[in-house]
Amino acid sequence: PAQPRDRLRVAVQKSGRLGDPARELLASCGLTWRESRDRLFLYGESLPVDVLLVRDDDIPGLIADGVCDLGVVGRNVLVEHGLEHEAQGRGVRLSEWRQLGWGVCRLDVAIPEDLEWTGPAQLEGLRIATSYPQTLGRWLREQGVDAQPVVLNGSVEIAPRLGQADVVCDLVSTGGTLRANQLRPVTTILESEAVIAGPDHTLEDGRQEIADLLLRRLDGAVQLKE
Ligand code: PRP
Ligand code: MG
Ligand code: ZN
Repeated sequence: PAQPRDRLRVAVQKSGRLGDPARELLASCGLTWRESRDRLFLYGESLPVDVLLVRDDDIPGLIADGVCDLGVVGRNVLVEHGLEHEAQGRGVRLSEWRQLGWGVCRLDVAIPEDLEWTGPAQLEGLRIATSYPQTLGRWLREQGVDAQPVVLNGSVEIAPRLGQADVVCDLVSTGGTLRANQLRPVTTILESEAVIAGPDHTLEDGRQEIADLLLRRLDGAVQLKE
């Protein structure tokens, strides 16, 4: 078990599209902080809430291991991580404590523009480039389709042009990246948005009270915006 901690620790994306809005959200809850020299740790001054700046893919693991209590992360990352643990038979359940309504995107299958789309069965035997093999794998099983995931951590959209894959399964926000690569989305396998992720149990050492206070303020801040 993690050592006792009486300050809440929140993991936030260091850079990338959810990082700045996540920090703004915490600031709107009245949180002020002091930055460490390496700028990876923000020490909360107005509340006993510290912020850890990390890679988004690391956020579910940090919460599952009890290193952080909460995280602001895309559902896509949370779902992929959950399925990975299930596959390994080590169930660490995380849950969505809040849905934030921004950072909205979809995990879509996309095919070359000039290809006709007749449905999921068309994917049988094809190579599908993706950074989300678990989420894609679950969907393929549901569809009863046997395809071959090609796992890439980035630049998924150029895989078909490189001859590395036939189609892709990637995040789509504006659709600009797909268009730039002569691909078109044909089916959505996950709808995503930024969420506050946490364990599926209450926190210990008084941290649940701090979390409750933070979330009450967050709910108030969100209402003010509406
Ligand atoms: C995602 C995704 C696409 C792009 C799609 O990458 O992998 O490349 O955004 O966005 P669009 O539809 O608005 O063009 P992201 O910027 O999150 O970076 P990453 O792939 O390095 O995580
Ligand atoms: Mg990323
Ligand atoms: Zn993990």
